[in-house]
Amino acid sequence: MKRRPLVVGNWKMNGTLAESVLLTRSLQTQFVSMSATTLHPWVDVVIAPPFTALACVAEQLNLIQVTDVHLPPRNTATKSFEQRGLHLRVELGAQTMDSHESGAYTGEISPVMLQELGVRWVILGHSERRAHCGETDAAIAQKVRVALAHNLTPIVAVGETAAQHQAGLAHDTVVAQTRAAFAELDTETVARCIVAYEPIWAIGTGSSDDPEHANSVMRAIRESTPGLDGVRLLYGGSVKPENAATYFSQTDIDGALVGGASLQPESFAAIVQAADEAGKVYQRS
Ligand code: PGA
Repeated sequence: MKRRPLVVGNWKMNGTLAESVLLTRSLQTQFVSMSATTLHPWVDVVIAPPFTALACVAEQLNLIQVTDVHLPPRNTATKSFEQRGLHLRVELGAQTMDSHESGAYTGEISPVMLQELGVRWVILGHSERRAHCGETDAAIAQKVRVALAHNLTPIVAVGETAAQHQAGLAHDTVVAQTRAAFAELDTETVARCIVAYEPIWAIGTGSSDDPEHANSVMRAIRESTPGLDGVRLLYGGSVKPENAATYFSQTDIDGALVGGASLQPESFAAIVQAADEAGKVYQRS
């Protein structure tokens, strides 16, 4: 793995406020025990909770201070995660955003609101939003530009349907989606982004793509647009502790976008650890 690995947890529409904070704490506990073997982590970790939980998760991550909510009290006799030796910084992402800063866009969340919460990453163009919310390539491209203008790193999701996969159209489909997302950006700006390849038929189904096939699609993504050569490309779609390392050993896979397994602290931590180890193996070679 040539580039510093990145593992992103997409919690989707899961987690009340209290559940989200407890999940974050459990993750931090996992990462503290991992820190014993990972004093110098070579991996970036992002979690993307639902909008309603962002503020409280941000506070739990020490990114911002917000007013009290009704949560199980912290055990003040317990040392903070930092005092207990958490070396791995967990950053905050959002699952989407609107392309306007404010205004008459009922129900939407703006990049300015995300910035205020300590959010630094935003998933754009997830296939569930393309399918259920009608997000088009053009709308996604606009959001990518706006996110960058607000110092949010876009994680642009691309992927083919089962029918496109069976028809041998995976490469063409994702290359077209990638080119569209970055259409109006110069090379230096494209280099600030992340792309996540998520075959739609592999999302939440338990049937993940063959790692070598995924790698060949991801090489096509990398070669499709100037500026993507140094960019981190994530694989997503039923990534689990059992299969993560097989993806991370591929030349063009630099991490994972994880859905279901990101809701299980042990599983997510195991995937993060696999990415850290794969990155270090490359560094040594
Ligand atoms: P999954 O979801 O890991 O549950 O397949 C991935 C995603 O949708 O980002």
